[in-house]
Amino acid sequence: MSARKRTVEEADVLVLFGATGDLAKKKLFPALYSMAKHDSLNCDVVGVASTKWDHEQFVAHAVEAIGKVFPNPDPKIIAELDAELSLVVGDYSQDKLYEDLADVLKDKKNPVIYLAIPPAFFGNVTKGLARVGLTERCRLVVEKPFGRDLQSAIRLQDELEEVLSEDRIFRIDHYLGKESVEDILVFRFANSIWEPLWNHRYINSIQITMAEDFGVEGRGAFYDGVGATRDVLQNHLLQVLALIAMEPPADLSSQNMEDEKLKVFRAIAALHPENVVRGQYVGYLEEAGVAPESTTETYTAATLHVDNWRWAGVPFYVRTGKALAESTLEVIVEFKQPPRMLFAESQAGSPNLLRFRLGKRDGVDIELQAKSPGDSLSTEPVKLTVEFSAALGERQEAYERLLRAAIAGDHMRFTRIDSVLETWRIVEGVINNEARLFPYFKGSWGPDRAEELTPNGWLEL
Ligand code: BG6
Repeated sequence: MSARKRTVEEADVLVLFGATGDLAKKKLFPALYSMAKHDSLNCDVVGVASTKWDHEQFVAHAVEAIGKVFPNPDPKIIAELDAELSLVVGDYSQDKLYEDLADVLKDKKNPVIYLAIPPAFFGNVTKGLARVGLTERCRLVVEKPFGRDLQSAIRLQDELEEVLSEDRIFRIDHYLGKESVEDILVFRFANSIWEPLWNHRYINSIQITMAEDFGVEGRGAFYDGVGATRDVLQNHLLQVLALIAMEPPADLSSQNMEDEKLKVFRAIAALHPENVVRGQYVGYLEEAGVAPESTTETYTAATLHVDNWRWAGVPFYVRTGKALAESTLEVIVEFKQPPRMLFAESQAGSPNLLRFRLGKRDGVDIELQAKSPGDSLSTEPVKLTVEFSAALGERQEAYERLLRAAIAGDHMRFTRIDSVLETWRIVEGVINNEARLFPYFKGSWGPDRAEELTPNGWLEL
């Protein structure tokens, strides 16, 4: 039976904890500008920070952040934002901050409170909000990572649950806000041509790559305590994998969607160090904030299996890393060879490939075999390519869509606690540096050792 839709009221104010921080600067202010531009920012925005700025300084900071992403912002929209923004300053560990905030929000019925702060503060801030009664009527948005392993995620959930019901908690994995990632669902379930092929009978392997061509970029102190497995594999890569592997949901309600993703996570065995290659780029130890003998990985590759009827025997290879040859986010589906090779050797070793490009310039490529020119009946690969921005127009940024969803109270683009705990279970055996660490050079594709995970190598298209 499909989940009943609950009527949820739009939020009347958005509160941003960490308003002077990095995430607000890079993602949230540009998202707010974009929402205002699309006429979809219909509530006040209250920043909360410990930095002692006045209104002018705060707005100047927001405008500068917006200017980095939108070089010529519309002055009318900036003036609108100026009128909507305010700042509450105080110490997160003191009651006074929460009392001041409660006072600012006294006429608001449905605040959305976004914790864009380090996870270590989540518990205390939530308690502070509870003391002034705000958790009784707010929705709370928490940034990833949700915990740093299974036990800490359970503890954090217990702390949140003491003061908030699950339907008021919105856990961010910003990949779920990416239109390109959502397109995986549309591609699979709005077209009937793929479903007959989407299983172990026709698919040989699936490869998921999230590569960045830059290092830790000033985030060394944070990143060194986290590493690539916790930063990207446990969340972004497993979420993408779930969308590729899940069964069609009964409908698009967040409950039915999450139920299907959960079944995928439950079918994945916990990772073992033998199936994981960790790497660290040469030069990482000299980055500011990184411990001199750190064994934190800046690269992880792993082989996973979804042990269910559809995917039995199909390896899912996933990899992510910093300071690699290029920035890319993609999934390559490698189909099986035809049962009998009719044509010349050229076809052997060239299975059909389907690539989802999920990063910038997202789209889909399909590699097919075509007849080579000339007398012989030999084949060569050709590529069919769709670039979605050219075909369909401009995409919206993930954070804009996530803020709108939180304001609307729609859970569809957020993660549910049972799934989060399952993903921690999957990585639990490899997050404390159990697998060997291999060095790699900046600008490479990571340690050579990672090539050994995949019998046909990491595919290109
Ligand atoms: C974040 C990670 O969650 O995702 C960063 O903490 C990473 O390390 C970022 O750079 C990548 O996001 P995107 O949207 O650029 O792929």
